[in-house]
Amino acid sequence: MSNPNTKELKLPAKFDPAKHAAIMERKVKEELGSDWSISHIDKQRWRLVAVRHTSMTSMNDEGETVVLELANGTKMSDAPAIAARFEKMKPGYYLTKFEPFLKPGRATMQKFDKATKRARGAVANALGVQPWAIVINNRSDGGYDLELPDSYTPSKHDEKLEEVATDIVGGPGWFTRIDPRSLEASIIPSDPPTFSQLIPYPTDAKVTAFAPGSKEWAKIPLGERLPAPGEKHGETFIIDFESGMNSQVGGTSNSGKSVFLNDIVAGVLARGAELAIIDTPAKAVDFEWCKQYVRPEGWGCESIDEAAAVMSKIYAEGDKRAKVLKEYGVQNWTQLPADAQEAAKMRPIFLIMDEVTGLWALETVPKGLEKDHPMRIEAQDANTAKEILKLKYSKTAAEMRFVGIKLVLSSQVASTDTGIGTALRTNHQNKILLGVNPTEGNRKLVFPDPAAVPKVPEHIRSNAKVGKGVGTAANEGDEACVFKPYYASTQELGDFLKKFGVPTFEGQRPTRATMEQFVPTSGPSDDGDETAKRRKKMEAEAMIDPETGEKMTPFEYANKQKRLSVRKGDADEMSGENQ
Ligand SMILES: Nc1ncnc2c1ncn2[C@@H]1O[C@H](COP(=O)(O)OP(=O)(O)OP(=O)(O)O)[C@@H](O)[C@H]1O
Ligand SMILES: [Mg+2]
Repeated sequence: MSNPNTKELKLPAKFDPAKHAAIMERKVKEELGSDWSISHIDKQRWRLVAVRHTSMTSMNDEGETVVLELANGTKMSDAPAIAARFEKMKPGYYLTKFEPFLKPGRATMQKFDKATKRARGAVANALGVQPWAIVINNRSDGGYDLELPDSYTPSKHDEKLEEVATDIVGGPGWFTRIDPRSLEASIIPSDPPTFSQLIPYPTDAKVTAFAPGSKEWAKIPLGERLPAPGEKHGETFIIDFESGMNSQVGGTSNSGKSVFLNDIVAGVLARGAELAIIDTPAKAVDFEWCKQYVRPEGWGCESIDEAAAVMSKIYAEGDKRAKVLKEYGVQNWTQLPADAQEAAKMRPIFLIMDEVTGLWALETVPKGLEKDHPMRIEAQDANTAKEILKLKYSKTAAEMRFVGIKLVLSSQVASTDTGIGTALRTNHQNKILLGVNPTEGNRKLVFPDPAAVPKVPEHIRSNAKVGKGVGTAANEGDEACVFKPYYASTQELGDFLKKFGVPTFEGQRPTRATMEQFVPTSGPSDDGDETAKRRKKMEAEAMIDPETGEKMTPFEYANKQKRLSVRKGDADEMSGENQ
């Protein structure tokens, strides 16, 4: 026998391992010394194989743990051989602690089932250590309590351990809880975190009203984030509209955009902001409930001309505010002295524009018709209004970030084809994409860094009721998340606003004077005799600079149009979408 730490002893013919193990163990010690014990029985040759180096010294009450004393001189590197030897000798027991550096050296063996052994192996693998570097115990809930080795580092190992919990040991929803100081950890079984079918709008929650100079009002709760593993409720989903000024909302039809926009409407009105709404006539019914709260000339939902007028009016208001800021030598409206803000009647203005795709898509001008054919003129008029709307909106987004005007743009698709080019997208700092199953293309069109935005988990995607309204968001100054907007009927939202005495207005539609000032094409509706007169008027007005409202020569006007279309070409190119 080449190994000086193993010896063989002949066995008596009547030896029965089940009955005589304890006697033989004593005998081995008597004959060979106290640091010897039985390794195994070689049945073929009827020999007992004894080993030195370690000896069994104690066994705890439940018999679940066996502590072995290691012989002097045992090294850390002996662990695999000793583990193999003892695990063979005591089936079902596994080496869980190897401490040759103690005096005397100690190896601890513990009894556990195959699943526990597998869990321990997976944890060890994740940490890059030997299995016995991990102490593992079963929890009554079916999970595991662990003692991690000193080499554990949260930044290096947490994600891997999370994976062990969800992919190897447990399933979706299982999670880890780790105390890096004590090195105690647990793998805990749980159902995956989810949402209620309906998260009611918190009509009783505290509301911080707008106050000049403060930014607290702008943190507006709009839903619930996906709960952390093991939790029933998620953190409140809040957009800070003073951190990210403008918001882009995307999502396919029926994904919950209008419900979410109404949450914003209620939140901002309750805090004392002013409201303007632009929508297509067909869809404006979604906002009919709050029309009475819309600021005068802030309702741009009856026609494209009125939409353009409302937008122009907002831009003009922004311009006025920018001049006040300049006067006081400040960059941001929040830096204005409170009395100056008060004097200029500056409250936050939220402009909500739903169905942008429909509002901005240009109409085809029927080519076969006479130049002055009413259908042709109508299409051209509509397109002029659309261009004005788009232009003023884009300018507001780009130039009016610090004057307290907040834009919320909502559309099914946000591609350059639908008029939402890269530059415009960049000017919307809060990004919300509703719907549980967006295409990669749509994620790219909404999120500047889609890889950093989590996806809606499968168990929520596959449950239509739970998934209703759910989406993802990446807002300025906040961690990207999966969330579900609050839901309330418009009746409930209306009652909520009544509690705050939100002022109501009349004259929400833009006045004729405003229309004439900003939208050159608007005039009385067509009727045969009027057509010629109207065309003349329009031709004259078409030469009004949509940016400044000033008259231009036809030559200047043509150049301007050319410049605008070049700008659009640039944006298309930048976003790489002009296939
Ligand atoms: N957060 C939510 N919680 C519960 N149900 C919701 C939620 N959001 C939307 N829904 C349900 O989904 C329906 C569709 O929502 P919504 O009208 O807001 O979709 P949309 O994206 O605006 O659709 P469209 O593009 O057609 O205008 C709502 O009528 C409501 O029943
Ligand atoms: Mg809608």
